[in-house]
Amino acid sequence: MKLCMIGTGYVGLVSGVCFSDLGNDVICVDKDLDKINLLKKGQVPIYEPGLSELVVKNYRNKKLKFSTNLKKSIQESDIIFICVGTPTKKGGTSADLSQIYNVAKEISLSINKFKIIITKSTVPVTTGDEIERIISKRNNKNRFSVVSNPEFLREGEAIRDFTYPDRIVIGSNDLKSNRVLKNLYSPLISKGAQYIHTSRRAAELIKYASNAFLATKVTFINEIANLCEKTGINVEDISIGMGLDKRIGSRFLRAGPAYGGSCFPKDTKAITSTANRFKTDLSVIKSVIRSNENRSNLLLSRVYEILNKKIKNKKITFLGVTFKANTDDMRDSSSLSMIPALSKKGAIIRYFDPTGYKKEFEKIKNVSFINNIKKSLIGSDLVIIHTEWNDFKSLNFKQIIKGKKFIIYDMRNIYSPSKIKSQGFKYFSIGR
Ligand code: UGA
Repeated sequence: MKLCMIGTGYVGLVSGVCFSDLGNDVICVDKDLDKINLLKKGQVPIYEPGLSELVVKNYRNKKLKFSTNLKKSIQESDIIFICVGTPTKKGGTSADLSQIYNVAKEISLSINKFKIIITKSTVPVTTGDEIERIISKRNNKNRFSVVSNPEFLREGEAIRDFTYPDRIVIGSNDLKSNRVLKNLYSPLISKGAQYIHTSRRAAELIKYASNAFLATKVTFINEIANLCEKTGINVEDISIGMGLDKRIGSRFLRAGPAYGGSCFPKDTKAITSTANRFKTDLSVIKSVIRSNENRSNLLLSRVYEILNKKIKNKKITFLGVTFKANTDDMRDSSSLSMIPALSKKGAIIRYFDPTGYKKEFEKIKNVSFINNIKKSLIGSDLVIIHTEWNDFKSLNFKQIIKGKKFIIYDMRNIYSPSKIKSQGFKYFSIGR
């Protein structure tokens, strides 16, 4: 099938590349000429394991093309995926849909034969209705179908999540496009992916409800971890004990810093804002947002306690600053609030991250990037394991440090407390 992905951000690029790997002819379009030129050279602008190999392979065998020509790309394709960003509106909580509607206008001017137009971007309920309204201003309704097909890819695991999804959700109000899309996804369905067909609005809401529920699960265990810390219980026993109940499930019960990334913070806010618009109070999700926003302050106060409230001139090393491992994404990472707060109190911060220097800390006083784990640790008073990269999982702290021992605050519970303490380190973790 001939597919066009509009927007080569995370969703568009990963999905486009994976669809081409399944044998479809895919054109990835973007306004950003520099990005398109980089992709043509096989250079991928985001860090995602396995992605650049698939870009090079499918570009070489001509199943994958890159272009800045939107009109031509739309006209050459049967299925158009809208994959542009839906960030939070500046100063608000709802999703900014301007990019989506601009693309809808462009599509409406370019339709030359029947097109299936799909939102893969995360969009609030009724966005599909509005896209349909925009396109039908210039086109007869039998020339196009607007469908919602949300993606559930995790950064860092995106290729695997695309290839072996738990479910594929197609929200369409007509059966013809449903048949075409079932066929498009048949290689994944035959490997065991569940395929569900719903109304367009239901598919839009499934995406938000899923992210909000996962964010709730993470926040729930984070709050239970707070109670564990006060009562001498290991939160991991609680996660295991709860997770073995099949009604609950074991995943997304790892306590840690505040959740971050480009999706949970944005989508939890957007769903409450949509609900407000429909005069519905999503009070559970609102309290999840509040709890998560407080979490970085809570962990910071733990850092102050650990350092006996003497922060000035203390050397603090952050291992990992991205919002989670296997991504270079800094969006809404809890390090973005913790590092400036510690710097303001006079700490001297060094950080190491496998994905390198971060411009986000450029203007923060006394913050420097050290391009070597060992060097970043030497001379520290406190080491904060902020992100769960594999690179940090088997460090032999005792061997690295010959002299003065630093304190370790393991925010991802990577290490066994008894093992690290037996090596003479003061060790703190989350909920244990
Ligand atoms: C999330 C969803 O998991 C994907 O299904 C969805 O497609 C994506 O958002 C999206 O909407 O595009 P992602 O943001 O890549 O994916 O990250 P997750 O792996 O879900 O992690 C989100 C946050 O929760 C991170 O800060 C992570 O550290 C935290 N988390 C996750 C925990 O603290 N504990 C856990 O047990 C799991």
